[in-house]
Amino acid sequence: MTRLEPTTHLDVARIQGDFPILGRKVHDTRLVYLDSASTSQKPTAVLDAMTRYYETANANIHRGTYAIAEEATALYEGARARLAGFIGAPTPTGVVFTKNVTEAINLVAYTWGRANLHEGDVVVLTELEHHANIVPWLMLKEERGIELRFLRLAEDFTLDLSDLDRLVDGAKLVGVSAMSNVLGTMVPIRLIGEAAHAAGALFLVDGAQLVPHVSTDVSAIGCDFFGVTGHKMLGPTGIGALWAREELLEAMPAFLGGGEMIRDVRLDGWLPNEVPWKFEAGTMPIAEAVGLTAAIDYLEAVGMDAVRRHEMALTRYALDRLHERYGDGIKIYGPDDVGLRGGVISFSYKGIHPHDLSQVLDQRGVCVRAGHHCAKPLMRCLGVNATARASLYLYNDEADVDALVDALSTADALFL
Ligand SMILES: Cc1ncc(COP(=O)(O)O)c(C=O)c1O
Repeated sequence: MTRLEPTTHLDVARIQGDFPILGRKVHDTRLVYLDSASTSQKPTAVLDAMTRYYETANANIHRGTYAIAEEATALYEGARARLAGFIGAPTPTGVVFTKNVTEAINLVAYTWGRANLHEGDVVVLTELEHHANIVPWLMLKEERGIELRFLRLAEDFTLDLSDLDRLVDGAKLVGVSAMSNVLGTMVPIRLIGEAAHAAGALFLVDGAQLVPHVSTDVSAIGCDFFGVTGHKMLGPTGIGALWAREELLEAMPAFLGGGEMIRDVRLDGWLPNEVPWKFEAGTMPIAEAVGLTAAIDYLEAVGMDAVRRHEMALTRYALDRLHERYGDGIKIYGPDDVGLRGGVISFSYKGIHPHDLSQVLDQRGVCVRAGHHCAKPLMRCLGVNATARASLYLYNDEADVDALVDALSTADALFL
C-alpha cells in the first residue's frame, strides 16, 4: 500500500504548540486527542480573541449607540462576513447565526418545512445522517404526515446512488450530510444536488463534518440550505450557522420570536426584521462569533488544502497501521480510499465493547468516542449497537496514531 508522508504538508509540531490543552497530561501520560469529530480543540488565538473581546469591547449588539456597543456590533457582523467568505456564500446576509448545526437544520424544518410541507410531501434523506438531520424531519412526519425516503448505504460504505432519480422524483427537499460522522464517507453532494434540482426539490447540506476539514464553496456545491457548526472547526461551542439562498430566507416565516427579530411590535401584531436578523431572536453569541472569526483566521493561515492533504495522508497511515497490526481482529467501518473519506475511523476490535475499549484507551491518554455517534439508523444498517471512533484533525500526527494502535492491544489482557 502507498504511504504518504503527512509531515510534508503541515508543521504539526508547531500547530500542536498553538493548542494549550494538548500540552496537558491525563493519567500521568500525554493527552492524545482523537475525538475532533465530536468537538475540536481550540487554539490560543481563539481563546485570546474571546478574552480580548470581553476585556475590551463587551456590550450588547445592534442596540447601543456608544463606542463599545458599536465595536461589538462590528465584530459580530464581521464574523458573519468572515464565515460567508469561508464557505463561499455570495453575501453575508444569507448567513443566519444559530447555536449549532442542529439548530440550523431545525430552523429549516420549522420555518420552510412548516410553510411548505403538507401531508404526502416527500423529503429524501440518507441512511448515514446524524440525528440532527433525521429527527426534525421525523417530527414533521408525525405532525404533518410527510413521507420520508432514504438513500441506502452500499456494501463499500458509500451511498448507493443507483436508485437516486427514482427516490428524488416528486420530492420537495433532499437533505444529506456532506461527510459521515461515523464512516468518514464523503458524499457526492454535487451529484445529489443536481438530481434534487432536476426533480424540482430544494437541496439541504449538513456541512458539520465537511467545513472543518475541506475547503467549502456553497455556491459551487449548488445547494439551497447549508448548515455549519463552529465548535468542530476550532471555534467555541454555542455558535453555528445556516446559510440559505436569500430569496428562500425572505420567504420563510420567522423562527423564534423576541427581541431583535422584529421591525415593529404593537399590542396586536408585529412585523419581522430584515434577513438574516429576522431569524436571530434575543442576545446572540457575540463572544462566540469573535472566537469563530479567529478560528477561521487560523484555518485560513494554515490553508484548507494543506489541512485536507494532511488528513488524507494521516488517515492512510492510520488505516494501514491498524490493518497491519490487527488484521482480522479489527473491523473498520468506512471506505478504504482516502480520496473518498475524511479522517473519521470507526471500528470494532476483537468483539470488545466500544465503551470498554474507550476506557482502556483513556488510561493511555487516548481519547476516542464510543457509542452510536447520534446515528442510530446507521448503526442498525451496520448491524452494531456501537462502534469506537477515532477522528483526526490538523493537530494530530503519526505519534498520535501509533499511541492509539499500541494502546488497543492493552485491551486484550483485560477482556479476552
Ligand atoms: C454530520 C453531523 N451533523 C450534525 C451534527 C450536530 O452538530 P451540533 O451538535 O454541533 O449541532 C454533528 C455532530 O456530531 C455531525 O457530525
